[in-house]
Amino acid sequence: MSNNTVLCDKKIILGVSGSIAAYKAVEVLRLLVQAGARVHVVMSANAVKFITPLTFEALSGNPVYHEVFDSNSSSLMEHIRVIESADLLLIAPATAGIIGKMANGIADDSLSNLCVSYNGVTIVAPAMNDNMYANLAVKENIKKMKRRGVKFVDPEQGELACGSIGQGRLADPSNLLESIKKEFNSMNDFYGLRLLVTAGPTHEPLDPVRFITNPSSGKMGYALASAARDRGATVTLISGPTSIPVPEGVRFVSCRTACEMNDHVLQMFSDCDILIMCAAVGDFAPKQIKKEKIKKKGKSSLDIQLLPTEDILKNVAAKKDRQLLVGFAAESENLTQSALEKLRDKKLDFIVANDISSPGIGFQSESNQVTLINKDENTKKLPLLPKVEIAHLLLDDFIKGMPRSEES
Ligand code: CTP
Repeated sequence: MSNNTVLCDKKIILGVSGSIAAYKAVEVLRLLVQAGARVHVVMSANAVKFITPLTFEALSGNPVYHEVFDSNSSSLMEHIRVIESADLLLIAPATAGIIGKMANGIADDSLSNLCVSYNGVTIVAPAMNDNMYANLAVKENIKKMKRRGVKFVDPEQGELACGSIGQGRLADPSNLLESIKKEFNSMNDFYGLRLLVTAGPTHEPLDPVRFITNPSSGKMGYALASAARDRGATVTLISGPTSIPVPEGVRFVSCRTACEMNDHVLQMFSDCDILIMCAAVGDFAPKQIKKEKIKKKGKSSLDIQLLPTEDILKNVAAKKDRQLLVGFAAESENLTQSALEKLRDKKLDFIVANDISSPGIGFQSESNQVTLINKDENTKKLPLLPKVEIAHLLLDDFIKGMPRSEES
């Protein structure tokens, strides 16, 4: 995406806290609006002492939120709705006070309330006296927030409002704008890439009412599909039977059996750049599917002959040219060794291994803990995290594994 259009139509919340640098937020707002962003300004209780909300209202064309405990409680709800759907929260200028509140989840005014309720991408641009910025408690708060994924645009050196010279001046508005563009560009790191993701279990029918399956919920594959879509990819999700809603903005192909999944993947493989085989594909299917329901009357036992299904990854490996191939390995023993064997055997670029014997991770659960192995057989153990966060960490590595454009 072009650097000039990356902010077009993006919904940005500009949080202004009570610093002498609050007037510079006007220039930040002007640059954002000029770049095509839709900006909603939220001011802290102290910020309104430095600059009037009307200035921001006139420039943004949107109402400015600066009160919490007013008689109009629907205003708080409305602003929480606005912020929840925002693409980015920018706090500029950020005082030591708002940083402390954000780091510790304190919500006692309009701005801190909204900061605590927002879970999306957040950029903080501190502005304060140099001694305050050097203070250990402030530094620890910043470190804490960085660990949670909050980005910081460091203050600049120069003359401060108190007359001293040091690091504490709000970053130049044009530098701030560049940082925001950079953040959106990195969020779009899958732009132009076509991803094929498989998810869920397969059902291998025995008769009209019975089938062989496994407990895969599909959550990991759906999380990967949604995360890749959010990062700009064109995503096709081929899913076995699950009870999860179809993610918006993703092309969805539903299937039931390993054979159907194999057909869909083979048909679409040549048009994709990355195939992520997250589905728990049944390895065996009944040789015969009975037309009528199998009756128990007169039977002391029942023999069912199973035949191996097509190995989808092996089938596509034979057709691979530029595509990146990612497999998953759900293992109950010898996790790394078994996953490595599959990586080599199926000629994969990555394998994501998870230990299904550990409680609370893998099939069905909301969280996962996986080990990622690349084709050079380097392993990386990721922490226990919600599946959507695991999805983003995996995508970070997959994008680095893509052939560079000059090589392809
Ligand atoms: N897979 C596949 N086709 C199959 C079975 C599995 O493409 N018929 C894919 C899965 O989607 C996964 C990877 O292969 O990405 C490993 O699946 P897994 O079931 O763990 O491995 P198998 O090769 O089936 O070996 P086993 O079940 O014996 O561990």
